[in-house]
Amino acid sequence: MGAPRRNIELKASDPDPERSLAVVLGLGARDRGLMYQRDTYFRVTSGRLKLREEEPGGATLVQYDRVDADEARESRYRLIPVEEPRALCEALAASLGLLGVVEKDRHLLLWQSVRIHLDTVKGLGNFIELEGVATAGSDLADELERVTRLTEALEIPPERILRNSYSDQVLGSTALVEAAEAVMHRAHAPYSKFKVGAALRAEDGSIHVGANVENAAYPQGQCAEASAIGALIAAGCKRITEVAVISDTKAVCVPCGGCRQRLREFIVPGAEIHLCAVGGRRVTTTLEKLLPRSFGPEFLPG
Ligand code: THU
Repeated sequence: MGAPRRNIELKASDPDPERSLAVVLGLGARDRGLMYQRDTYFRVTSGRLKLREEEPGGATLVQYDRVDADEARESRYRLIPVEEPRALCEALAASLGLLGVVEKDRHLLLWQSVRIHLDTVKGLGNFIELEGVATAGSDLADELERVTRLTEALEIPPERILRNSYSDQVLGSTALVEAAEAVMHRAHAPYSKFKVGAALRAEDGSIHVGANVENAAYPQGQCAEASAIGALIAAGCKRITEVAVISDTKAVCVPCGGCRQRLREFIVPGAEIHLCAVGGRRVTTTLEKLLPRSFGPEFLPG
């Protein structure tokens, strides 16, 4: 498999796009014009996969992978030109599942091989994105330096920097809850008749799901959260950044004590945990609230 392309990326909300435009033009950025983009995201077990349809321009399948972080970070990506976007979209949606669609108007500028995107994202607002495109074999130091210089010139404070992708912002927790509900229906719960679905978002934005799996030898049964953690680890992920748990009941589903401890092993501090019921009821909490003064790996010697 060929090596992916790489860039250093930073995304921030932009309260004053006109000022940002003036700043980057003042630095000598070249104006590459306006475009409309429609990105359709698919559910994948590693990184992200989206079909980008662009006007003017064509369609591209974009596979990429980056860690959610509130600073400039490395992104690895592959771009595949697509001739039949509608047919590909239907095939991928049927086989992988759809996460959602993000639409935006983009003003593209170029400065010293940094792509500057002034974006207006439908339903979300104005953003600025800096992509320092890496040359093959680069240690990324130059790219990081250029992105940092632009960040300083644009006076972007840390609190405006986004941790995750537009799709995460637009879709919010909806995609996660939908994934939990879909897998809940596949639970094997013939004894309790209590079907549970769990969906975990990992540090790269990918979603991992699991359902409860009961057994005629009752103690051998497994909770939905444990199944989902297994899927997340099997996909090569290490951290949980958001959780949804759902049951087919009136009351929202709460994780059992054992599963609170299981989540504790991998969850990042403050991550949202959505306790859900079919039909839309939802209570959002955190592990700190569900399991105060909890035990974790940091208590072990060494
Ligand atoms: N269950 C879960 O899957 N997760 C929880 O956190 C609570 C309980 C399952 C286990 C068992 O299959 C059924 O619900 C009834 O206890």
